[in-house]
Amino acid sequence: MASDFIPIAHLDDLPPGSCKSIETNDLGIALINLDGQIFALDNTCPHAGGPLGEGSIEGEYVVCPWHGWKFHIPTGVCQKNPTPSLNVPCYEVRIVEKSIQVSLPTQPS
Ligand code: FES
Repeated sequence: MASDFIPIAHLDDLPPGSCKSIETNDLGIALINLDGQIFALDNTCPHAGGPLGEGSIEGEYVVCPWHGWKFHIPTGVCQKNPTPSLNVPCYEVRIVEKSIQVSLPTQPS
């Protein structure tokens, strides 16, 4: 599937150890700075729709703010039950002159 990189945040607004929710192109993104490396996961928790970007970071996991499910930040794998339907999609990230850009799937036409 083709994709485009879209600027969604500035690197200075996402210090190491932080995360935030971003809405762009009708898609929610959980943007996470894990020890200086930026990751973008789908923002919607597969349990009941909690906003992962408003959660907390524990080691390599983001913790959903609603009921505490944990997802591996680099892979999106659900720690509680690592089945494909409970993992969250991850999006490719690149940094261009401190602009955080995320590769989002192209909408089908
Ligand atoms: S909605 Fe995320 S753990 Fe329940």
